[in-house]
Amino acid sequence: MVQHQGTKTLDTERLQLRQITRGDGPVLFETCFGNPNVTKFLRYETHPDLDETDRIIDIWTESYKKTDFYLWVIVLKENGEPIGTVGCDKEGWDADAAGALGYQLAEKHWGKGYMTEAVSAVIKFMFEQVGLNRIEAYHSTRNPASGAVMRRCGMQYEGMCREKYYCSQGYQDCNMYAILKSDYMGRGI
Ligand SMILES: CC(C)(COP(=O)(O)OP(=O)(O)OC[C@H]1O[C@@H](n2cnc3c(N)ncnc32)[C@H](O)[C@@H]1OP(=O)(O)O)[C@@H](O)C(=O)NCCC(=O)NCCS
Repeated sequence: MVQHQGTKTLDTERLQLRQITRGDGPVLFETCFGNPNVTKFLRYETHPDLDETDRIIDIWTESYKKTDFYLWVIVLKENGEPIGTVGCDKEGWDADAAGALGYQLAEKHWGKGYMTEAVSAVIKFMFEQVGLNRIEAYHSTRNPASGAVMRRCGMQYEGMCREKYYCSQGYQDCNMYAILKSDYMGRGI
């Protein structure tokens, strides 16, 4: 039984995941939304200016009124710096109790395990608090670092979906991963 909670603040060892605000916009525009190296395999177009980032943040802020909307800004605890975002969404997810992950991290912070830490916290929250049965994610086969995050979070490879989505690099073949609640309970994390 899914019991939506909304985007609640989550704490990990090094990170805090919380609702995004306009105050996060300038840093995230510089490091994520406006950085083509970060957006290369993402499904949105690189933001041309801070106004576009503010516009998206305003839409998300409005969406926080809905209890089934999950979009966190990832903040470094040591200095309060916003370093990325992670979300969990799905069309019709009450029916199949499944959510899909999406995430991005500022380039200077890649390779430090931050996204593994953030996604693990979201998986824990979505299984333990929201009551999902399945969480899935997919990545372009040309973006293997994202697949490494999925595996490190206990997700299993389910197959390759040909030309699943379009981005600035054209149509992307994608590897699909998922974790079930039973997998998660079995891992004891
Ligand atoms: C994919 C991304 C989220 C990874 O975040 P991260 O915090 O660097 O990931 P982690 O440090 O937790 O490490 C995950 C793995 O990716 C590897 N990795 C990190 N950066 C990498 C890079 N630039 N190239 C290759 N591998 C990389 C790490 O070595 C690790 O692999 P390992 O388990 O084999 O050691 C980040 O690179 C990013 O935001 N990329 C742009 C946006 C994006 O692609 N989002 C996902 C779309 S599906």
